[in-house]
Amino acid sequence: MCGIIGYVGNKNVINILIDGLKSLEYRGYDSAGIAYRTCNRIEIIKASGKIKSLEGKLKKDVYGNIGIGHTRWATHGKPDEKNCHPHRQGKFTIVHNGIIENYESLKRLLIKNGYKFKSETDSEVIAALLDKLYKEKPDILKVLVQIKNLLVGSYALGILCDDIPNTLYAIRKDSPLIVGLSEKENFIASDVPAILKYTDKYIIIKSNEIIEINEKVNIYDDKLEKINKEILTFEGNITQAEKNGYDHFMLKEIHEEPEAIKNTIKPFLKYGLDSLIENMPIFEKYANIIIVGCGSAYHAGLIGKNLIEKYANIRSDVYIASEFRHQKVFTDENTLVILISQSGETADTLACLRKANELGLDTLAIVNVIGSSLAREASKTIYINAGPEISVATTKAYLAQIAILSLIALTIGNTRNLISDKKALEIIASFEDVPFILETLINEDYKGIAKTIYRKDNCFYIGRGVDYAISLEGALKLKEIAYITSIAYPAGELKHGTISLIDKGTNVIAVVTDKNIAEKTINNIKEVKARGAFITLITTDKLDEDFEWADNKIIIPNSNDFTNPIIASIPIQLIGYECAKLRGCDIDKPRNLAKSVTVE
Ligand code: AGP
Repeated sequence: MCGIIGYVGNKNVINILIDGLKSLEYRGYDSAGIAYRTCNRIEIIKASGKIKSLEGKLKKDVYGNIGIGHTRWATHGKPDEKNCHPHRQGKFTIVHNGIIENYESLKRLLIKNGYKFKSETDSEVIAALLDKLYKEKPDILKVLVQIKNLLVGSYALGILCDDIPNTLYAIRKDSPLIVGLSEKENFIASDVPAILKYTDKYIIIKSNEIIEINEKVNIYDDKLEKINKEILTFEGNITQAEKNGYDHFMLKEIHEEPEAIKNTIKPFLKYGLDSLIENMPIFEKYANIIIVGCGSAYHAGLIGKNLIEKYANIRSDVYIASEFRHQKVFTDENTLVILISQSGETADTLACLRKANELGLDTLAIVNVIGSSLAREASKTIYINAGPEISVATTKAYLAQIAILSLIALTIGNTRNLISDKKALEIIASFEDVPFILETLINEDYKGIAKTIYRKDNCFYIGRGVDYAISLEGALKLKEIAYITSIAYPAGELKHGTISLIDKGTNVIAVVTDKNIAEKTINNIKEVKARGAFITLITTDKLDEDFEWADNKIIIPNSNDFTNPIIASIPIQLIGYECAKLRGCDIDKPRNLAKSVTVE
């Protein structure tokens, strides 16, 4: 998500802010800006796009020794210059990382009080609110205590106040913030890499703390009592710091999945069924849904199809974008085309959107990157809010895509009276448990299982129905990052040819989460086992068997049809990851692949 940096000291702040922002680039961003004090006033420079564009706008020979900087990952409003941070209102200039959930009501109140807003962001509201509170009581520390009680949501804030020219303030709740300490200079930052060029000494800030930085650093609790904090020394290099201590971005992003899913479902489930129906598009008129995507997005689409057909009783066809764009499609005015993409820039998916638009069809984009081409050109957009993904292999965005498709199936099923309110509320409650279940599963050991698989260059993933869709993603993970030729096959289809490839020791990973077809899949697994296959079984604790025939067993907690595919995706991602690691592959940047495929 966004990155923030702040500096007070005896060096030229501009270079330090730019360096800090560059080392926060790994967090993902779409625009950047800085504010610094020079000649007794605050200068703000912003640019959409990369930090290079910001550097191009900097004036030569300017000097300042206090300032704040920001890389923005758009959440409220497009990634353009007006929405870019820092934001200024009255005497306050701020940078913000996080989301203010009650910004609309605060904004209405501030407008009544005469404030005018230049951006669509939730963040500008914070600057105006600080200014209003400070006008009422010009005691900055008290204002910071007060504003903490008024803001609902998450934030890490770097704050400059015109009246206190040599001091930088900061507060946080849920979004990360550290203070960097050096001789005659101090920093605030979202993360350690932003300060490592200057110091390895830092303090981790907690949610109830208020920071005041000039040549000294003062940290207060919410009663404005000064507190002493432990000073830590970072041991390691910048790259390790960017990955938050994880060996790879992919592993870091898998560990971010519980948080990502919380952010995905939050707007839809905050007030139960009401917020779901209110925040989802209206699906009433559609009798036919077409889902389009590439790679993992296509696989997520297949899971969506299963749920939409089963629970919303709407015909739903899923297409690989590079195929759909060139083939004849049968549609009518009751067709909705759903396009799924993490980046929102995938060339084939974009071409399908344009084809659907030309056909005059309604389109719904499910994307992660705010303001991306797909989001801009579709008639409607749902953002999955998974946060930036750096690793080429998608993990948290794929999970978030499944979550949105599940919620679409739930919405349509409920509005068509196919899922009762009572049942829908039970499903909503089960979604709230998902982050905790993911957390537990992510922390289990998959290395032991990977050790029994990774040496072979071939592998089969098998399953039926939704389990086949999950298998496709599992097989893709083994292919793209571990370079294992893995084929996902519908379990029942093996006998029609492919079973001849099964030999002594052939790796078969079987996914069995759907109770209704479990028995049939288990028969197929036993057939390959009888031919010598080495079986790794991924199943739920609902199936009442001890599976003594399986060589490896991964038992996940059974939830329901809407949430099981999200939960079952953890083992397939981590098996892929651990196999790739054991095979010594370049996990985050697999050969021949790019994160965003912008060519056909
Ligand atoms: C998945 O791990 C891949 N990196 C790839 O299949 C990806 O899902 C596909 O290229 C689609 O990308 P998009 O979601 O950005 O459109």
